[in-house]
Amino acid sequence: MSLRLKVKEKFGQKFDEEIRFFKGWMSNTRAVGAILPTSAVTARRMASVVNPRSGLPVLELGPGTGVITKAILERGISPEKLVSIEYSTEFFNQLKADFAGVHFINGDAFDLSRTLGALNGQQFDSVVSAVPLLNFPMHRRVELIDDLLARIPFGRPVVQISYGPMSPVVAMPDRYRIQHYDFVVRNIPPAQLWVYSKAH
Ligand SMILES: C[S@@+](CC[C@H](N)C(=O)[O-])C[C@H]1O[C@@H](n2cnc3c(N)ncnc32)[C@H](O)[C@@H]1O
Repeated sequence: MSLRLKVKEKFGQKFDEEIRFFKGWMSNTRAVGAILPTSAVTARRMASVVNPRSGLPVLELGPGTGVITKAILERGISPEKLVSIEYSTEFFNQLKADFAGVHFINGDAFDLSRTLGALNGQQFDSVVSAVPLLNFPMHRRVELIDDLLARIPFGRPVVQISYGPMSPVVAMPDRYRIQHYDFVVRNIPPAQLWVYSKAH
């Protein structure tokens, strides 16, 4: 394929993604929680916390158009080792078509025991989350972090994207540590990345 065609195809795909995202955003702004898909730079930063040598599957929350899913797979995680929970059925159907072999679940990340079904009890290497936490009450955000940390080994991270200057989850020093992981300007809007890990 010529370079011109390749560039055209790449931009076409990106445009399709943005239209899809915008449709999701229009129909459910509370659930989507961002204006545009996450940038590839941000996605790669988030996926960098994943350890492809742990042998454990990775848990992704809120994959949307799949930008972060792609970055996780590019880290060397095989599709069968990625479990990804998406609330929107429209995004879910498209993700299944785009990423063969990834274990997508159409369900609620805030109700993990039910959503994971037979995988409830599975230990994961790490969690990569783009669910719009700020749209949920604080007590539900804290419960989610506690629940996620119970599903990964001690020392392993839950990485979360957010857009405000503060951690979207309040400090609970006796339960988890909070690390400001990165501020990515090449994202619309600029993104803050936070890492949560067990305190003990
Ligand atoms: C900000 S978007 C993330 C977009 C993704 N990073 C991308 O660039 O396409 C948030 C995503 O979380 C999903 N979501 C919202 N609430 C959710 C929930 N309770 N469980 C699972 N996914 C949820 C939305 O449907 C949306 O796809």
